[in-house]
Amino acid sequence: MRPSLVVANWKMNGSGDFLRDYVERLELDQPIGIDVVLCPPSIYLADLARVVRGTGVVCGAQDVGIQPVGAHTGEIAAEMIAEVGADWVIVGHSERRIDQNEKDDLVATKAAAALRAGLKPIICVGETLAEREAGHEIAVVERQLEAVVDRVDLEGLACGAIAYEPVWAIGSGMTATAEQAQAMHAFIRDKIAHLDVEIARKVRVVYGGSINPENAEELFGQDDIDGGLVGGAGLDPVQFAHIVYSATS
Ligand code: 13P
Repeated sequence: MRPSLVVANWKMNGSGDFLRDYVERLELDQPIGIDVVLCPPSIYLADLARVVRGTGVVCGAQDVGIQPVGAHTGEIAAEMIAEVGADWVIVGHSERRIDQNEKDDLVATKAAAALRAGLKPIICVGETLAEREAGHEIAVVERQLEAVVDRVDLEGLACGAIAYEPVWAIGSGMTATAEQAQAMHAFIRDKIAHLDVEIARKVRVVYGGSINPENAEELFGQDDIDGGLVGGAGLDPVQFAHIVYSATS
């Protein structure tokens, strides 16, 4: 399948000025032909949603609360994220699994909360370096994936994405080789195909971990890599546009 989804995860970066300048400098021809998503910190979502309106680019959140609107101090409900104009939400990013100690079960609940509000979840999975060195990468990703597919409606999953982000490749400049990434993506798709062949065909499996304008084309050329989740290079609109074009060419 040709790549059809490229997402910039700004992580905890940005400001009001940054996002306006970014969108002004993000030169993408219309129509872009694939889904392009910008995920700023949630406090900037409403602003960014206004700025990207009509550009063909959409936005998403980096996390979501699990409860519906109510007495949950500090949380942001999926319905609120949808209301301010976001279409997507990242769940289970390894930085949250590590920093906030998010477990598989919570990640699955977040994916379900996103779907309940009509948001498309980008569900992150991926092993640490120690887990890969011990030969456990498949078992880890399988466990993370099973927690989600056991919990969410599979039709909902088909409109979202699975992001394979090996933890050791994030922000390290150590990209997974195209072969390593392709092998894990094929495993993920195959695992979903055991539940539903049509859903496995539809769900986008995107790669994340030190994607840059130099390596994007080779990664996006792999059979089961349907796009990318970009961190560092996604903070520069020129580099990000280059990566988007690598997915469309
Ligand atoms: P980098 O592209 O900076 O490695 O980050 C990847 C990532 O974590 C995207 O969610």
